[in-house]
Amino acid sequence: MKNFPEKFRPRFHFTPRKNWCNDPNGLVWWNGEFHLFYQYNPFGDVWGHMSWGHAVSRDLLHWTELAVAIAEDERNMIFSGSAVVDADNTVGFGANALVAIYTGHEPTEPQHQTQNLAYSLDDGRSWIKYADNPVLDIGLEHFRDPKVFWHQPSARWVMIVALSHQNKISLYQSPDLRNWRHLSDFGPAGAGGELWECPDLFTLPIKGREKWVLKVDMFEGGVAGGSSAQYFVGEFDGVRFTPDKADDGGDLWGWGDFGKDFYAAVTWSNVPPEDGRRLWIGWMCAHQYGKDLPTSPWRGGMSLPRELSLEPRARGLALIQQPVIELEQLRRAQRTFPAIAIENGEILVAPLADCRNGFEFKVEFDRLDADECGLVLKWSSGDEFRLGYDRARGALFADRSHAGLLSDDARFTGRRYAPLPNPGTLALQGWVDACSVELFADFGAVTITELMFPQGDIESIALFAQGGRVAMREMQLWALSPSVEVGSYSNNN
Ligand code: FRU
Repeated sequence: MKNFPEKFRPRFHFTPRKNWCNDPNGLVWWNGEFHLFYQYNPFGDVWGHMSWGHAVSRDLLHWTELAVAIAEDERNMIFSGSAVVDADNTVGFGANALVAIYTGHEPTEPQHQTQNLAYSLDDGRSWIKYADNPVLDIGLEHFRDPKVFWHQPSARWVMIVALSHQNKISLYQSPDLRNWRHLSDFGPAGAGGELWECPDLFTLPIKGREKWVLKVDMFEGGVAGGSSAQYFVGEFDGVRFTPDKADDGGDLWGWGDFGKDFYAAVTWSNVPPEDGRRLWIGWMCAHQYGKDLPTSPWRGGMSLPRELSLEPRARGLALIQQPVIELEQLRRAQRTFPAIAIENGEILVAPLADCRNGFEFKVEFDRLDADECGLVLKWSSGDEFRLGYDRARGALFADRSHAGLLSDDARFTGRRYAPLPNPGTLALQGWVDACSVELFADFGAVTITELMFPQGDIESIALFAQGGRVAMREMQLWALSPSVEVGSYSNNN
Protein backbone atom coordinates (compact mmCIF):
# COMPACT_ATOMS: atom_id res chain seq x y z
CA MET A 1 0.00 0.00 0.00
CA LYS A 2 1.32 3.43 -0.91
CA ASN A 3 1.87 5.81 1.93
CA PHE A 4 0.60 9.33 1.86
CA PRO A 5 3.44 11.84 1.98
CA GLU A 6 1.64 13.74 4.74
CA LYS A 7 0.89 11.61 7.76
CA PHE A 8 -2.36 13.15 8.95
CA ARG A 9 -3.77 14.07 5.53
CA PRO A 10 -7.38 12.80 5.47
CA ARG A 11 -7.99 10.21 2.74
CA PHE A 12 -11.72 10.72 2.26
CA HIS A 13 -12.44 14.09 3.84
CA PHE A 14 -11.89 17.45 2.18
CA THR A 15 -8.87 19.47 3.28
CA PRO A 16 -7.29 22.31 1.32
CA ARG A 17 -3.92 21.55 -0.25
CA LYS A 18 -2.26 24.07 2.04
CA ASN A 19 -3.03 26.78 4.62
CA TRP A 20 -5.75 27.41 7.14
CA CYS A 21 -9.43 26.69 6.61
CA ASN A 22 -12.50 26.94 8.85
CA ASP A 23 -16.27 27.12 8.24
CA PRO A 24 -17.91 25.76 5.10
CA ASN A 25 -19.47 28.69 3.21
CA GLY A 26 -21.71 29.27 0.21
CA LEU A 27 -22.76 25.64 -0.17
CA VAL A 28 -24.74 25.47 -3.38
CA TRP A 29 -25.40 22.87 -6.07
CA TRP A 30 -25.23 24.22 -9.57
CA ASN A 31 -24.93 22.68 -13.02
CA GLY A 32 -23.83 19.23 -11.86
CA GLU A 33 -21.44 20.44 -9.17
CA PHE A 34 -21.59 20.69 -5.41
CA HIS A 35 -19.74 23.88 -4.53
CA LEU A 36 -17.88 24.01 -1.25
CA PHE A 37 -16.53 27.42 -0.34
CA TYR A 38 -14.82 27.81 3.00
CA GLN A 39 -13.16 30.31 5.29
CA TYR A 40 -9.59 30.36 4.03
CA ASN A 41 -6.31 32.13 4.72
CA PRO A 42 -4.45 32.20 1.38
CA PHE A 43 -1.27 33.36 3.14
CA GLY A 44 -0.77 31.04 6.09
CA ASP A 45 -1.71 28.08 8.23
CA VAL A 46 -3.38 30.01 11.06
CA TRP A 47 -6.59 32.06 11.03
CA GLY A 48 -6.26 35.43 9.23
CA HIS A 49 -6.80 37.27 5.91
CA MET A 50 -10.16 35.50 5.70
CA SER A 51 -11.27 34.87 2.13
CA TRP A 52 -13.47 32.24 0.50
CA GLY A 53 -11.52 29.22 -0.69
CA HIS A 54 -13.31 27.01 -3.19
CA ALA A 55 -13.64 23.35 -4.16
CA VAL A 56 -16.15 21.46 -6.32
CA SER A 57 -17.34 17.88 -6.49
CA ARG A 58 -19.79 15.97 -8.66
CA ASP A 59 -20.24 13.12 -6.18
CA LEU A 60 -19.49 14.60 -2.70
CA LEU A 61 -16.46 12.26 -2.55
CA HIS A 62 -13.84 13.63 -4.91
CA TRP A 63 -13.14 17.33 -4.48
CA THR A 64 -11.21 19.58 -6.85
CA GLU A 65 -9.73 22.64 -5.23
CA LEU A 66 -10.06 25.80 -7.32
CA ALA A 67 -8.65 29.31 -7.04
CA VAL A 68 -9.67 31.54 -4.12
CA ALA A 69 -13.20 32.69 -4.98
CA ILE A 70 -13.71 35.86 -2.93
CA ALA A 71 -10.58 37.49 -1.58
CA GLU A 72 -10.09 39.81 1.37
CA ASP A 73 -9.88 43.46 0.29
CA GLU A 74 -8.51 46.73 1.75
CA ARG A 75 -11.60 47.20 3.85
CA ASN A 76 -13.03 43.79 4.69
CA MET A 77 -12.16 40.27 5.52
CA ILE A 78 -14.68 37.92 3.89
CA PHE A 79 -16.41 36.09 6.72
CA SER A 80 -18.92 33.25 6.53
CA GLY A 81 -22.07 33.28 4.46
CA SER A 82 -24.13 31.42 1.93
CA ALA A 83 -24.84 31.27 -1.80
CA VAL A 84 -28.00 30.96 -3.88
CA VAL A 85 -28.90 30.51 -7.53
CA ASP A 86 -30.90 33.59 -8.57
CA ALA A 87 -32.93 31.76 -11.23
CA ASP A 88 -35.35 34.66 -11.81
CA ASN A 89 -32.71 37.37 -11.77
CA THR A 90 -34.32 39.15 -8.83
CA VAL A 91 -31.13 41.09 -8.11
CA GLY A 92 -30.31 41.96 -11.71
CA PHE A 93 -26.88 40.35 -12.03
CA GLY A 94 -28.18 37.99 -14.74
CA ALA A 95 -30.43 34.93 -14.92
CA ASN A 96 -29.05 32.03 -12.92
CA ALA A 97 -26.31 34.14 -11.38
CA LEU A 98 -24.70 32.48 -8.39
CA VAL A 99 -24.97 35.06 -5.63
CA ALA A 100 -22.89 34.85 -2.47
CA ILE A 101 -24.13 36.69 0.63
CA TYR A 102 -21.23 37.09 3.05
CA THR A 103 -20.25 39.05 6.12
CA GLY A 104 -17.74 41.82 5.54
CA HIS A 105 -15.60 42.12 8.65
CA GLU A 106 -13.74 45.41 9.14
CA PRO A 107 -10.93 44.43 11.48
CA THR A 108 -9.78 47.92 12.44
CA GLU A 109 -11.20 49.18 15.75
CA PRO A 110 -14.06 49.68 16.20
CA GLN A 111 -14.76 46.44 14.39
CA HIS A 112 -17.80 46.40 12.19
CA GLN A 113 -19.71 43.62 10.41
CA THR A 114 -22.08 44.02 7.47
CA GLN A 115 -23.78 41.79 4.90
CA ASN A 116 -22.54 41.95 1.32
CA LEU A 117 -23.04 40.39 -2.11
CA ALA A 118 -20.75 38.94 -4.74
CA TYR A 119 -21.83 37.14 -7.89
CA SER A 120 -20.59 34.75 -10.52
CA LEU A 121 -21.83 34.24 -14.06
CA ASP A 122 -19.39 31.45 -14.92
CA ASP A 123 -20.32 28.49 -12.72
CA GLY A 124 -18.58 29.95 -9.70
CA ARG A 125 -15.16 30.23 -11.32
CA SER A 126 -14.87 34.00 -10.96
CA TRP A 127 -16.62 36.37 -8.56
CA ILE A 128 -17.44 40.07 -8.70
CA LYS A 129 -18.18 42.01 -5.52
CA TYR A 130 -21.37 44.09 -5.82
CA ALA A 131 -20.52 47.76 -6.26
CA ASP A 132 -23.10 49.00 -3.73
CA ASN A 133 -22.03 46.80 -0.83
CA PRO A 134 -22.95 46.50 1.96
CA VAL A 135 -26.59 45.56 1.47
CA LEU A 136 -27.30 45.30 5.19
CA ASP A 137 -25.60 47.37 7.86
CA ILE A 138 -27.11 47.90 11.31
CA GLY A 139 -23.93 49.39 12.75
CA LEU A 140 -23.00 46.37 14.84
CA GLU A 141 -19.66 44.92 15.73
CA HIS A 142 -20.94 41.33 15.79
CA PHE A 143 -23.55 40.66 13.13
CA ARG A 144 -22.60 37.77 10.92
CA ASP A 145 -22.92 34.57 8.93
CA PRO A 146 -26.01 35.18 6.74
CA LYS A 147 -27.78 32.10 5.40
CA VAL A 148 -30.21 32.99 2.64
CA PHE A 149 -32.94 30.89 1.02
CA TRP A 150 -35.97 31.47 -1.22
CA HIS A 151 -39.20 31.23 0.76
CA GLN A 152 -41.85 30.19 -1.74
CA PRO A 153 -45.02 31.00 0.28
CA SER A 154 -44.00 34.65 0.73
CA ALA A 155 -42.15 34.81 -2.61
CA ARG A 156 -39.22 36.47 -0.84
CA TRP A 157 -35.64 35.76 0.03
CA VAL A 158 -35.18 35.11 3.74
CA MET A 159 -31.92 35.72 5.59
CA ILE A 160 -31.06 34.26 8.97
CA VAL A 161 -28.06 35.97 10.57
CA ALA A 162 -26.42 35.95 14.00
CA LEU A 163 -26.42 38.78 16.56
CA SER A 164 -23.52 36.95 18.10
CA HIS A 165 -23.04 38.84 21.35
CA GLN A 166 -26.74 38.83 22.16
CA ASN A 167 -27.14 35.06 21.63
CA LYS A 168 -29.81 35.84 19.08
CA ILE A 169 -30.43 35.30 15.46
CA SER A 170 -32.33 37.76 13.28
CA LEU A 171 -34.58 37.04 10.32
CA TYR A 172 -34.83 39.43 7.37
CA GLN A 173 -36.66 39.29 4.06
CA SER A 174 -36.00 40.77 0.64
CA PRO A 175 -37.50 40.71 -2.85
CA ASP A 176 -34.13 41.24 -4.52
CA LEU A 177 -31.23 40.37 -2.16
CA ARG A 178 -30.38 44.09 -1.96
CA ASN A 179 -33.14 45.59 0.18
CA TRP A 180 -33.66 43.81 3.47
CA ARG A 181 -36.50 44.23 5.98
CA HIS A 182 -36.28 42.95 9.53
CA LEU A 183 -38.84 40.25 10.37
CA SER A 184 -38.14 38.90 13.85
CA ASP A 185 -35.50 37.72 16.30
CA PHE A 186 -35.04 34.34 17.95
CA GLY A 187 -33.15 33.60 21.15
CA PRO A 188 -31.53 33.27 23.57
CA ALA A 189 -32.85 29.72 23.74
CA GLY A 190 -31.85 26.10 24.19
CA ALA A 191 -28.46 25.62 25.78
CA GLY A 192 -27.64 29.31 25.41
CA GLY A 193 -23.86 29.27 25.56
CA GLU A 194 -21.87 32.28 24.46
CA LEU A 195 -21.48 33.94 21.07
CA TRP A 196 -23.93 32.54 18.55
CA GLU A 197 -22.65 31.98 15.02
CA CYS A 198 -23.42 30.31 11.71
CA PRO A 199 -27.22 29.86 11.81
CA ASP A 200 -29.20 27.86 9.27
CA LEU A 201 -32.95 27.40 8.77
CA PHE A 202 -34.31 24.67 6.51
CA THR A 203 -37.16 22.23 6.06
CA LEU A 204 -37.22 18.48 6.46
CA PRO A 205 -40.14 16.23 5.56
CA ILE A 206 -41.81 14.10 8.20
CA LYS A 207 -45.03 12.11 7.77
CA GLY A 208 -46.05 13.89 4.59
CA ARG A 209 -45.45 17.43 5.87
CA GLU A 210 -42.57 19.80 6.33
CA LYS A 211 -41.06 20.84 9.62
CA TRP A 212 -38.49 23.60 10.04
CA VAL A 213 -35.13 23.11 11.69
CA LEU A 214 -33.13 26.05 13.06
CA LYS A 215 -29.49 25.31 13.75
CA VAL A 216 -27.14 27.74 15.48
CA ASP A 217 -23.64 27.29 16.84
CA MET A 218 -22.25 28.61 20.08
CA PHE A 219 -18.60 29.50 20.36
CA GLU A 220 -18.46 28.70 24.09
CA GLY A 221 -20.62 26.70 26.45
CA GLY A 222 -21.21 23.70 24.24
CA VAL A 223 -21.87 20.14 25.31
CA ALA A 224 -18.23 19.08 24.91
CA GLY A 225 -16.81 22.15 26.64
CA GLY A 226 -16.11 24.74 23.96
CA SER A 227 -17.95 25.21 20.70
CA SER A 228 -21.01 23.21 19.65
CA ALA A 229 -24.05 23.20 17.42
CA GLN A 230 -27.59 23.14 18.76
CA TYR A 231 -30.81 22.71 16.80
CA PHE A 232 -34.49 23.45 17.30
CA VAL A 233 -37.38 21.77 15.48
CA GLY A 234 -40.45 23.89 14.88
CA GLU A 235 -42.42 26.07 12.49
CA PHE A 236 -41.56 29.09 10.37
CA ASP A 237 -44.50 31.15 9.11
CA GLY A 238 -42.51 33.48 6.87
CA VAL A 239 -41.92 35.93 9.74
CA ARG A 240 -41.07 34.07 12.89
CA PHE A 241 -39.55 30.75 13.90
CA THR A 242 -41.37 29.01 16.77
CA PRO A 243 -39.81 25.92 18.31
CA ASP A 244 -42.01 22.94 19.09
CA LYS A 245 -42.50 22.14 22.72
CA ALA A 246 -40.97 18.96 24.05
CA ASP A 247 -43.14 16.64 26.12
CA ASP A 248 -41.68 18.22 29.25
CA GLY A 249 -42.97 21.65 28.17
CA GLY A 250 -39.63 23.22 27.24
CA ASP A 251 -38.50 24.17 23.74
CA LEU A 252 -37.62 21.13 21.68
CA TRP A 253 -33.91 21.33 20.99
CA GLY A 254 -30.91 19.05 20.72
CA TRP A 255 -27.15 19.06 20.24
CA GLY A 256 -25.93 18.89 16.64
CA ASP A 257 -22.98 16.72 17.71
CA PHE A 258 -21.50 15.65 21.04
CA GLY A 259 -17.84 15.87 19.98
CA LYS A 260 -15.50 18.84 19.98
CA ASP A 261 -14.87 18.88 16.23
CA PHE A 262 -18.08 19.57 14.39
CA TYR A 263 -18.79 23.27 13.97
CA ALA A 264 -20.35 25.80 11.61
CA ALA A 265 -22.28 23.15 9.65
CA VAL A 266 -24.59 24.51 6.97
CA THR A 267 -26.83 22.93 4.35
CA TRP A 268 -26.45 22.96 0.59
CA SER A 269 -28.89 25.13 -1.29
CA ASN A 270 -30.42 24.33 -4.68
CA VAL A 271 -29.94 20.55 -4.43
CA PRO A 272 -31.97 19.36 -7.43
CA PRO A 273 -35.44 17.89 -6.71
CA GLU A 274 -34.48 14.58 -8.35
CA ASP A 275 -31.83 14.28 -5.64
CA GLY A 276 -34.12 15.73 -2.98
CA ARG A 277 -31.77 15.31 -0.03
CA ARG A 278 -31.00 17.88 2.65
CA LEU A 279 -27.23 17.75 2.97
CA TRP A 280 -24.79 19.49 5.22
CA ILE A 281 -21.12 19.49 6.07
CA GLY A 282 -19.32 20.93 9.09
CA TRP A 283 -15.88 22.25 9.89
CA MET A 284 -14.15 19.28 11.56
CA CYS A 285 -12.09 21.27 14.03
CA ALA A 286 -12.47 23.83 16.81
CA HIS A 287 -11.24 27.40 17.20
CA GLN A 288 -10.06 26.58 20.74
CA TYR A 289 -7.05 24.61 19.45
CA GLY A 290 -7.26 24.77 15.66
CA LYS A 291 -4.08 26.81 15.36
CA ASP A 292 -2.10 24.11 17.17
CA LEU A 293 -3.12 21.10 15.08
CA PRO A 294 0.02 19.12 14.19
CA THR A 295 -0.74 19.11 10.46
CA SER A 296 1.19 20.73 7.67
CA PRO A 297 1.04 22.42 5.21
CA TRP A 298 -2.72 22.70 5.87
CA ARG A 299 -4.82 23.20 8.99
CA GLY A 300 -8.53 22.48 9.25
CA GLY A 301 -10.88 20.52 7.02
CA MET A 302 -14.43 19.29 6.62
CA SER A 303 -16.49 16.52 8.19
CA LEU A 304 -18.10 13.91 5.99
CA PRO A 305 -21.05 15.32 4.08
CA ARG A 306 -24.16 14.15 5.92
CA GLU A 307 -27.76 13.60 4.89
CA LEU A 308 -30.35 14.99 7.31
CA SER A 309 -33.80 13.75 8.26
CA LEU A 310 -36.20 13.88 11.19
CA GLU A 311 -37.41 10.95 13.23
CA PRO A 312 -39.58 10.73 16.32
CA ARG A 313 -37.78 10.06 19.58
CA ALA A 314 -38.92 10.11 23.20
CA ARG A 315 -38.73 13.92 23.63
CA GLY A 316 -40.07 14.76 20.16
CA LEU A 317 -38.61 15.01 16.67
CA ALA A 318 -34.86 14.44 16.52
CA LEU A 319 -32.41 15.48 13.83
CA ILE A 320 -30.89 12.40 12.20
CA GLN A 321 -27.53 12.53 10.43
CA GLN A 322 -26.10 9.87 8.14
CA PRO A 323 -22.95 10.14 6.05
CA VAL A 324 -23.99 10.37 2.39
CA ILE A 325 -24.67 7.09 0.60
CA GLU A 326 -22.00 7.91 -2.01
CA LEU A 327 -19.40 6.88 0.58
CA GLU A 328 -20.30 3.25 -0.08
CA GLN A 329 -18.40 3.62 -3.36
CA LEU A 330 -15.19 3.83 -1.35
CA ARG A 331 -15.75 0.47 0.32
CA ARG A 332 -13.30 -2.27 -0.52
CA ALA A 333 -14.15 -5.90 0.35
CA GLN A 334 -16.51 -6.28 3.26
CA ARG A 335 -15.16 -8.27 6.18
CA THR A 336 -17.40 -9.80 8.81
CA PHE A 337 -16.14 -10.70 12.26
CA PRO A 338 -18.14 -13.14 14.37
CA ALA A 339 -20.02 -12.35 17.57
CA ILE A 340 -17.71 -12.23 20.55
CA ALA A 341 -17.96 -11.53 24.29
CA ILE A 342 -15.54 -10.60 27.03
CA GLU A 343 -15.66 -10.10 30.77
CA ASN A 344 -13.20 -7.74 32.44
CA GLY A 345 -10.59 -7.70 29.74
CA GLU A 346 -9.83 -7.11 26.13
CA ILE A 347 -9.93 -9.35 23.06
CA LEU A 348 -8.87 -8.78 19.47
CA VAL A 349 -11.73 -8.35 17.02
CA ALA A 350 -9.89 -7.51 13.81
CA PRO A 351 -6.41 -6.74 12.58
CA LEU A 352 -6.49 -3.49 10.59
CA ALA A 353 -3.26 -3.63 8.61
CA ASP A 354 -5.23 -3.17 5.38
CA CYS A 355 -7.06 -0.13 6.75
CA ARG A 356 -4.33 2.49 6.56
CA ASN A 357 -6.43 4.66 4.27
CA GLY A 358 -9.29 4.61 6.71
CA PHE A 359 -12.22 2.35 7.38
CA GLU A 360 -15.88 2.13 8.23
CA PHE A 361 -17.46 -0.22 10.74
CA LYS A 362 -20.91 -1.22 11.86
CA VAL A 363 -21.63 -3.09 15.06
CA GLU A 364 -24.33 -3.82 17.61
CA PHE A 365 -24.02 -4.93 21.18
CA ASP A 366 -26.51 -7.26 22.78
CA ARG A 367 -25.17 -7.11 26.31
CA LEU A 368 -23.70 -4.05 27.95
CA ASP A 369 -23.35 -5.40 31.51
CA ALA A 370 -20.15 -3.56 32.32
CA ASP A 371 -19.27 -0.27 33.94
CA GLU A 372 -17.51 0.59 30.74
CA CYS A 373 -17.19 -1.38 27.53
CA GLY A 374 -16.75 -1.00 23.82
CA LEU A 375 -14.04 -0.86 21.21
CA VAL A 376 -10.45 0.26 21.28
CA LEU A 377 -8.58 1.30 18.12
CA LYS A 378 -4.85 0.67 18.41
CA TRP A 379 -1.80 2.02 16.61
CA SER A 380 1.72 0.61 16.37
CA SER A 381 2.92 3.54 18.50
CA GLY A 382 0.81 2.38 21.45
CA ASP A 383 -1.71 5.16 20.90
CA GLU A 384 -5.35 4.23 21.25
CA PHE A 385 -8.82 5.68 20.81
CA ARG A 386 -11.56 4.22 23.00
CA LEU A 387 -15.25 4.36 22.27
CA GLY A 388 -18.25 2.63 23.72
CA TYR A 389 -20.73 2.60 26.54
CA ASP A 390 -20.61 4.14 30.00
CA ARG A 391 -23.20 2.38 32.17
CA ALA A 392 -23.46 4.95 34.95
CA ARG A 393 -24.27 7.69 32.45
CA GLY A 394 -26.22 5.57 29.96
CA ALA A 395 -24.05 7.26 27.36
CA LEU A 396 -21.91 6.64 24.33
CA PHE A 397 -18.39 7.88 24.90
CA ALA A 398 -15.35 8.67 22.76
CA ASP A 399 -11.98 9.04 24.43
CA ARG A 400 -8.85 10.54 22.90
CA SER A 401 -6.84 10.89 26.13
CA HIS A 402 -4.17 8.52 24.80
CA ALA A 403 -4.62 9.01 21.07
CA GLY A 404 -1.29 10.61 20.18
CA LEU A 405 -0.29 14.22 19.64
CA LEU A 406 -2.25 16.85 21.60
CA SER A 407 -3.44 14.10 23.99
CA ASP A 408 -1.75 15.93 26.85
CA ASP A 409 -3.26 19.29 25.88
CA ALA A 410 -6.01 20.23 28.33
CA ARG A 411 -8.09 21.89 25.59
CA PHE A 412 -8.04 18.76 23.47
CA THR A 413 -7.66 15.66 25.60
CA GLY A 414 -10.34 13.65 27.34
CA ARG A 415 -13.63 11.97 26.91
CA ARG A 416 -16.87 13.06 25.33
CA TYR A 417 -20.29 11.66 26.26
CA ALA A 418 -23.52 11.44 24.32
CA PRO A 419 -26.54 10.27 26.34
CA LEU A 420 -28.35 7.45 24.56
CA PRO A 421 -32.14 7.61 24.28
CA ASN A 422 -32.40 3.88 25.04
CA PRO A 423 -29.66 3.19 27.56
CA GLY A 424 -28.59 -0.43 27.58
CA THR A 425 -28.56 -0.83 23.80
CA LEU A 426 -26.00 0.40 21.33
CA ALA A 427 -25.91 0.16 17.54
CA LEU A 428 -22.91 2.01 16.23
CA GLN A 429 -21.42 3.08 12.92
CA GLY A 430 -18.03 4.70 12.64
CA TRP A 431 -15.83 6.27 9.99
CA VAL A 432 -12.14 6.52 10.83
CA ASP A 433 -9.78 8.61 8.69
CA ALA A 434 -6.13 9.59 9.18
CA CYS A 435 -6.92 12.10 11.93
CA SER A 436 -10.62 11.75 12.74
CA VAL A 437 -13.35 9.52 14.11
CA GLU A 438 -17.03 10.14 13.34
CA LEU A 439 -19.47 8.02 15.34
CA PHE A 440 -23.19 7.60 14.64
CA ALA A 441 -25.40 5.92 17.25
CA ASP A 442 -29.15 5.51 17.56
CA PHE A 443 -29.30 5.45 13.73
CA GLY A 444 -27.81 8.93 13.48
CA ALA A 445 -29.74 10.73 16.24
CA VAL A 446 -26.51 10.83 18.26
CA THR A 447 -23.14 11.69 16.72
CA ILE A 448 -19.66 12.31 18.08
CA THR A 449 -17.02 13.88 15.85
CA GLU A 450 -13.44 14.05 17.12
CA LEU A 451 -10.02 14.67 15.67
CA MET A 452 -7.03 12.62 16.84
CA PHE A 453 -3.35 12.48 15.91
CA PRO A 454 -2.05 8.96 16.56
CA GLN A 455 1.56 8.23 15.76
CA GLY A 456 2.42 4.99 14.01
CA ASP A 457 0.15 2.85 11.86
CA ILE A 458 -3.32 1.58 12.67
CA GLU A 459 -3.03 -2.04 13.78
CA SER A 460 -6.20 -3.45 15.26
CA ILE A 461 -9.59 -3.05 16.81
CA ALA A 462 -10.37 -4.85 20.09
CA LEU A 463 -13.41 -5.35 22.30
CA PHE A 464 -13.03 -4.44 25.97
CA ALA A 465 -15.05 -4.51 29.17
CA GLN A 466 -14.27 -3.12 32.62
CA GLY A 467 -16.41 -3.99 35.63
CA GLY A 468 -18.51 -6.59 33.87
CA ARG A 469 -19.27 -8.24 30.60
CA VAL A 470 -19.99 -7.12 27.06
CA ALA A 471 -21.33 -9.16 24.15
CA MET A 472 -20.99 -7.86 20.62
CA ARG A 473 -22.91 -9.14 17.63
CA GLU A 474 -20.96 -9.65 14.42
CA MET A 475 -19.04 -6.65 13.18
CA GLN A 476 -18.94 -5.52 9.57
CA LEU A 477 -15.88 -3.64 8.52
CA TRP A 478 -14.81 -2.07 5.27
CA ALA A 479 -11.36 -0.79 4.43
CA LEU A 480 -11.92 2.36 2.36
CA SER A 481 -10.20 3.54 -0.79
CA PRO A 482 -8.96 7.09 -0.63
CA SER A 483 -11.04 9.63 -2.52
CA VAL A 484 -8.07 11.98 -2.28
CA GLU A 485 -5.44 10.91 -4.77
CA VAL A 486 -2.33 9.33 -3.25
CA GLY A 487 0.59 11.63 -3.89
CA SER A 488 -1.52 14.53 -5.12
CA TYR A 489 -0.46 16.56 -2.13
CA SER A 490 3.27 15.92 -2.41
CA ASN A 491 4.01 19.13 -4.24
CA ASN A 492 2.65 21.92 -2.19
CA ASN A 493 1.71 24.47 -4.79
C1 FRU B 1 -17.24 30.60 12.96
C2 FRU B 1 -16.77 32.01 12.62
C3 FRU B 1 -17.88 32.81 11.98
C4 FRU B 1 -17.12 33.84 11.20
C5 FRU B 1 -15.93 33.05 10.73
C6 FRU B 1 -14.67 33.84 10.59
O1 FRU B 1 -16.21 29.68 12.98
O2 FRU B 1 -16.28 32.65 13.80
O3 FRU B 1 -18.79 33.37 12.88
O4 FRU B 1 -17.87 34.35 10.13
O5 FRU B 1 -15.74 32.01 11.66
O6 FRU B 1 -13.65 33.07 10.05
